[in-house]
Amino acid sequence: MKAEGLDIFLGEKEIREKVKELGQKITEDFKGEDVLLVGVLKGSWIFLADLAREIDTNVEISFISVSSYAGKKTVSSGVVRLLCDIDRPLDGRNVILVEDIVDTGLTLSYLKKLLYVRNPSTIKICTLLDKPSRRLADINPDYAGFEIPDEFVVGYGLDYDGKYRNLKNVCKLKVK
Ligand code: XMP
Ligand code: MG
Repeated sequence: MKAEGLDIFLGEKEIREKVKELGQKITEDFKGEDVLLVGVLKGSWIFLADLAREIDTNVEISFISVSSYAGKKTVSSGVVRLLCDIDRPLDGRNVILVEDIVDTGLTLSYLKKLLYVRNPSTIKICTLLDKPSRRLADINPDYAGFEIPDEFVVGYGLDYDGKYRNLKNVCKLKVK
């Protein structure tokens, strides 16, 4: 597969407004409580940075790093590797897993099982993008920005072979 070009799929303004909306919903649900945002690296880092600033309650931030793709493949292998764990105890915490995109749901299914045994008070999922048509695991995000069709997208944190994460828009990758 070779990258041929990019088509803007979601613009900066649209993304900004949606992130604000998601932050407001989380604020309403957790007002006065402590929340631990756990960004799933690497794809979620830009989204998490913007989302955290739209949440008006006590927020702590941590990251977890997993890998579910091998090299240039654009489909999840289903085999999830834990590369770097969360640096905080989860006992009694309100955990929100922050993802760039939920595709097959295999990554989040693995993560939920991994974190559940650490006794958090709640585990919620917040994703910018949701591709429900490709779901293999029983995962329903509690907060989802945009539902998208089965297209491979890059930008705003999402990559193809490590590139395009720094794009301000979410773009469709044209490939041949
Ligand atoms: P699963 O299939 O486990 O995958 O839900 C979640 C992870 O797969 C990556 N992913 C994508 N990355 N454009 C990307 O840049 C896409 O269209 C795409 N679909 C899935 C992503 O890292 C996500 O966390
Ligand atoms: Mg990801």
